[in-house]
Amino acid sequence: MSSILILNGPNLNLLGTRQPEVYGKTTLQDIENMCVSHGESLGVSVSCIQSNHEGALVDAIHAAKGQHDGIVLNAGAYTHTSIALMDAISSVALPVIELHLSNIHARESFRHKSFIAPVAVGQICGFGALGYRLAIDAMLNHIGK
Ligand code: DQA
Repeated sequence: MSSILILNGPNLNLLGTRQPEVYGKTTLQDIENMCVSHGESLGVSVSCIQSNHEGALVDAIHAAKGQHDGIVLNAGAYTHTSIALMDAISSVALPVIELHLSNIHARESFRHKSFIAPVAVGQICGFGALGYRLAIDAMLNHIGK
């Protein structure tokens, strides 16, 4: 059975109450439940991790190697700053789909830069919580399972 890791970064634990006009009212728990049940319906195992700490996210990417077939990564603000996350993705050579709830390209210019995009299979942004389902579908298509 294929296995996908859903990895969420800083401040995403506050989804539901954090700037709902930007990120929606769906909580992270709701999103994780939706990802797991979407995975079950497709016969794929889905695991979820969230951390506010850059190093913990690096550790989770390292640990994913050999455990998961791909990673859906919403790195939050680290998207725009973290060479460490970019290097971690390159180091494990696992397919990563970059995910954002909001359309980062329609927001402040500092959000237009992504250190994840050059090492990602692709990017999904602007579709809110639905994006996670789209990312699971895209990952399964990418890994051919
Ligand atoms: C985000 C977009 C980032 O710019 C922001 O820092 C986040 C959330 C999104 O899901 O839209 O924390 O990744």
